[in-house]
Amino acid sequence: MEEFNKDPFEILTVEHYPIIEVASALAAIRSGSEIDAEMLRKAVDFIRRFADRYHHEKEEAILFTLVREKGLDVSPIDAMEKEHEMVRWKVRKAVEALDNGDIRGAVVNLREWANFIPDHIDRENHSLFPGLARFFDEEERNKMLEKFKRVDEELGTLQDMQKMADELFLAILSKTGEAIVEARAVREEERDRFVERLAKMMPENTSLIVMYDEEAEELTKSLKGFEIRELRRKDVYAFKIRRK
Ligand SMILES: [Fe+2]
Ligand SMILES: [Fe+2]
Repeated sequence: MEEFNKDPFEILTVEHYPIIEVASALAAIRSGSEIDAEMLRKAVDFIRRFADRYHHEKEEAILFTLVREKGLDVSPIDAMEKEHEMVRWKVRKAVEALDNGDIRGAVVNLREWANFIPDHIDRENHSLFPGLARFFDEEERNKMLEKFKRVDEELGTLQDMQKMADELFLAILSKTGEAIVEARAVREEERDRFVERLAKMMPENTSLIVMYDEEAEELTKSLKGFEIRELRRKDVYAFKIRRK
């Protein structure tokens, strides 16, 4: 992961991947009867600590603040901040439900979080960050990196985030048997590797439902020993990967 540590926009982009991983697992929870409250609390902890404080802190308190200071167009970041507020509210609702012993209510809110967050990430990866990056020179990027480092010192590292995401992904998947991976939110150059990693990690007799926007020929080739079935083809190329 070292190669990503040189550019703040790269860092923000790769921090999205453990978030998509956890969302993939949460999106496939059905009624909640298959899952226990403790696991949902752990998911909430991940979202609050890493998706929100660790990652959104870098976006809001560092990047977006600089965008405002530079006098750039703020409408895209205003929109992103509104979405951050919305997802925070969903998580608050999930915590309230858990506090009331309402697992079903918690699942509904976490699933809404999980269904929404990949869209948000997609817009940041494919539109917001590339659009903003060209306004930041090396000196400004280095300053951002310094500030990022301070967040890391306080809250943990990308490796910590990845570790917790993997634990959650495996724990939830082993209960639900399935994850729904919105791979379109991952940058194209990393998409195959992202899905391949999840596929190789998943327990026996579980499956991944994966959304691509085109046929995943290369990926399919690299997943020998897995059963791959095309699901439907309209605007999205979806397929199911099953560990035999
Ligand atoms: Fe964001
Ligand atoms: Fe983000």
